[in-house]
Amino acid sequence: MKIAMVGSGYVGLVSGACFADFGHDVVCIDKDQSKIDRLHEGVMPIYEPGLDALVASNVKAGRLTFTTDLAEGIKDASAIFIAVGTPSRRGDGHADLSFVYAVAREVGESLSNDAVVVTKSTVPVGTGDEVERILKESGTPHQVAVVSNPEFLREGAAIGDFKRPDRIVIGAEDEFGREVMREVYRPLFLNESPILFTSRRSSELIKYAANAFLATKITFINEIADLCEKVGGNVQDVARGIGLDGRIGGKFLHAGPGYGGSCFPKDTLALLKTAEDYESPVRIVEAVAKVNDLRKRAMGRKVVEALGGADAARGKRVAMLGLTFKPNTDDMRDSPAIAVAQTLDDAGVSVAAYDPEGMELAKPLMPEVEMAADPYTAIEGADAVVIVTEWDAFRALDLERVKALANAPVLVDLRNIYQPDAMREAGFAYSSIGRV
Ligand code: UDX
Repeated sequence: MKIAMVGSGYVGLVSGACFADFGHDVVCIDKDQSKIDRLHEGVMPIYEPGLDALVASNVKAGRLTFTTDLAEGIKDASAIFIAVGTPSRRGDGHADLSFVYAVAREVGESLSNDAVVVTKSTVPVGTGDEVERILKESGTPHQVAVVSNPEFLREGAAIGDFKRPDRIVIGAEDEFGREVMREVYRPLFLNESPILFTSRRSSELIKYAANAFLATKITFINEIADLCEKVGGNVQDVARGIGLDGRIGGKFLHAGPGYGGSCFPKDTLALLKTAEDYESPVRIVEAVAKVNDLRKRAMGRKVVEALGGADAARGKRVAMLGLTFKPNTDDMRDSPAIAVAQTLDDAGVSVAAYDPEGMELAKPLMPEVEMAADPYTAIEGADAVVIVTEWDAFRALDLERVKALANAPVLVDLRNIYQPDAMREAGFAYSSIGRV
């Protein structure tokens, strides 16, 4: 089957390359000429482990091509995926759907065969209805069905998540849409990935509800972590103790500096807007968004405390290890590191940082931070070291070398990479999350 993927970013490029790897013929379309040029040179526009090899092998097999020409790219495609960005609209948190609608209009004008138009971008409830209206308005003589097919890809694990999904969700309103989508995902039938067919609106809501629930789970354990610090509990033991209950599950119970990324912050806000528009408040998610926002700066204050408090901290220097919102990505969107760096800057603390992948994208976001070539260069002369992102590179630091390079053996571990007793035995003034 020929598939067109409009939008070659985190979602579109991974999805397109994986569909090609299933054996489909895929054209990835993007209006950004420089991105398409780089893809033709085999240069990936994003950092995603394994993506370059996956793209290269499918380009070589002739199953994956790239173009800026949408009309040409969708010709003879049975399924046309819309995988363009739906960023938070400035000011009110609504999802900005202008890119989605622009693609729908262009598809309607250029369509030369029957096709299913699939919204893979995360879009608010009802967007599929509007896309359908736009396509009808374009006057295309061809049969078109609009289907919702949300993705559940985690950055840094996107290819694995695509090829071994917990489920595939298809929101379709007619048999034509369902039939084409069965064909699209036929290769996954083989490994029994459950496919849920539902209405378009339920499918759109499933995406938001899933991300909001995951954000809630993380925020819940983060608040339990704060309580643990007060009562002398260990949040990792508490997480394990509740997570062994099959009804709760152990995943997404790692306490940390708060969630970031391109999805949870944006999708929780967009869900709250939908809830407001339909006068059906989701108060738990309101609290989650608020608590998470406050938490990130609280982490900066935790570092100031480790430096001896506001007065003692002024004029001191901190080494920040990790800038990206999570490991194995270069993505800085809503990373807690941004709020931590800002809080330290406000407190008159200078920062030297190192991140394996994120420094280029981080630089414009934190101009006051000095980027170092490696963790130890960042640590040189630091009055405290803070681990913000749990990159593997930080899991086995040479602690004697850290002590020799730093001005003081102070380490704030916002990801609980190290064990408190071992760190204190090694001579560190060590603080972490939800453990005493
Ligand atoms: C998320 C969803 O997992 C994915 O299904 C959806 O399609 C897109 O959004 P992503 O944002 O890439 O994926 O990363 P994820 O691994 O979910 O982490 C999101 C944030 O939560 C990160 O900042 C991470 O550090 C934080 N997190 C995650 C925790 O603080 N604790 C956890 O236990 C898990």
